Amino acid sequence: MTGADGFIGSHLVEALVADGARVTALSLYNSFDSHGWLDDLTEETLASVTRIRGDVRDAAFMRRIVDGQEVVFHLAALIAIPHSYAAPQSYVETNVLGRSMCWKRHVKIVSAASCIRRPVRFTAVL
Ligand SMILES: NC(=O)c1ccc[n+]([C@@H]2O[C@H](COP(=O)([O-])OP(=O)(O)OC[C@H]3O[C@@H](n4cnc5c(N)ncnc54)[C@H](O)[C@@H]3O)[C@@H](O)[C@H]2O)c1
Repeated sequence: MTGADGFIGSHLVEALVADGARVTALSLYNSFDSHGWLDDLTEETLASVTRIRGDVRDAAFMRRIVDGQEVVFHLAALIAIPHSYAAPQSYVETNVLGRSMCWKRHVKIVSAASCIRRPVRFTAVL
């Protein structure tokens, strides 16, 4: 689960664990030793969660963590629309390229952003 540190992601982690799943939960790396909203989950829930930190924009990192997963729930995003006008590149890199980083053959992607139905491959820039 990318964006597992976020509002929706953390609740989805909770729901999947309640359903019997084991979840690898990606939080955006920070230097505060925080996993965002995941820090509010119970010890019992967290026992079924592997928490890792990283960045969806990092292709090699994403290849490593997606490997072996059954499904990727992709919820990592920059969500502040007004700020997207001030810093559009960061939004493209996270919200558009970030999704393509989750792509791997035979791994299903479930994404919150419904505007992109197929993986976008930017082989020229990667
Ligand atoms: N909250 C809502 O009501 C709502 C409604 C409809 C759709 N959505 C969509 O659901 C998704 C998640 O929304 P949310 O409300 O949980 O937002 P959120 O900001 O709480 O969670 C997004 C998470 O993505 C992480 N993130 C950002 N950049 C990252 C990066 N480069 N690498 C790794 N992680 C990164 C952030 O740390 C953050 O915790 C978004 O796509 C949003 O547009 C949300």
